[in-house]
Amino acid sequence: MKVLVTDPIADAGLDRLRDAGHEVVTDYEVEGDALLDAVSDANALIVRSGTDVNEAVFEAASELVIVGRAGIGVDNIDIEAATDHGVIVANAPEGNVRAAAEHTVAMTFAVARSIPQAHGRLLGGEWAKGEFLGTEVNNKTLTIVGLGRVGQEVAKRLDSLGMDLVVYDPYISEERADRLGAELVEDLHEALGRGDFATVHTPLLPETEGMIGEDELAQLEGGYLINCARGGIVDEDALAEAVDDGILAGAALDSFAEEPLSQDSPLLDVEDIVLTPHLGASTEAAQENVAIDTAEAVLAAFDDEPVLTA
Ligand code: NAD
Ligand code: MLT
Repeated sequence: MKVLVTDPIADAGLDRLRDAGHEVVTDYEVEGDALLDAVSDANALIVRSGTDVNEAVFEAASELVIVGRAGIGVDNIDIEAATDHGVIVANAPEGNVRAAAEHTVAMTFAVARSIPQAHGRLLGGEWAKGEFLGTEVNNKTLTIVGLGRVGQEVAKRLDSLGMDLVVYDPYISEERADRLGAELVEDLHEALGRGDFATVHTPLLPETEGMIGEDELAQLEGGYLINCARGGIVDEDALAEAVDDGILAGAALDSFAEEPLSQDSPLLDVEDIVLTPHLGASTEAAQENVAIDTAEAVLAAFDDEPVLTA
């Protein structure tokens, strides 16, 4: 069988497929017509977030059995088109959860203590000790929007650092929030209004697209917004304006509506916004985990064994 891999995944996953006797073709630059050509005789396609697996890809891929997503979010895959073409879509929902949660905590501290900004000043030859007065997370309230796998791991870590937890997630039970010592609040505006920090952990869905806009940011007045989930959930223009105007104290983002982030983005012009290039899952352990889980899903699909679909 031919497995086409169009975003980089760890060798452990590629080796698992080769050891099982399959042909593995990696092409991390392929797009447009070249992608349609490359996928035309592939039996499996493995991607991360960098490949747009749209209707045209499924049209072109007449031999395709499975699309494996080496990570969590499947917003770059047209699931309806996959279903129409009888192609399985499997993600790796567990392997990078801790990495994403740790990155969220790191971004929380980065923005609360202006770590990247201070580092930049030092590199520029300035000892700007008097210009940075940070905020402690201890005794502050953290609003978590979306208490799924990553949200729960973030909750545990920041609870242990002395934060009070408020949660907005219309799809979870009160018990899930209770178990983490968090208060479940039914209204998004109320939840944001209670937070000193707010962190977003929902998938990107039609329902969540743009859910944090100007009005929502105004509720978090004086606070910090962190988004290590998906771009498009937070309105980037409104966020840049809110931080620039001092309505928010700062923001930290790891994912963007368009990736790579355009150099014209207003987010790049605001001093108190910390940005990373979608690094949430970029640890050795997480990449090895998701690569192996994705390879196993492909092997199971080739063997007509049950596959957990996304
Ligand atoms: P999950 O499916 O386990 O949890 C998502 C949670 O969001 C669920 O509890 C769900 O009930 C809740 N939710 C859905 N719609 C909502 C709404 N309208 N309002 C509030 N809550 C809502 O997902 P996860 O594994 O925890 O992943 C969370 C996000 O993090 C996803 O967007 C995923 O793609 C992203 N992610 C990013 C990175 C990264 O590299 N930055 C790494 C891993 C995951
Ligand atoms: C994910 O949803 O798992 C993240 O986007 C991680 C990634 O693949 O970069």
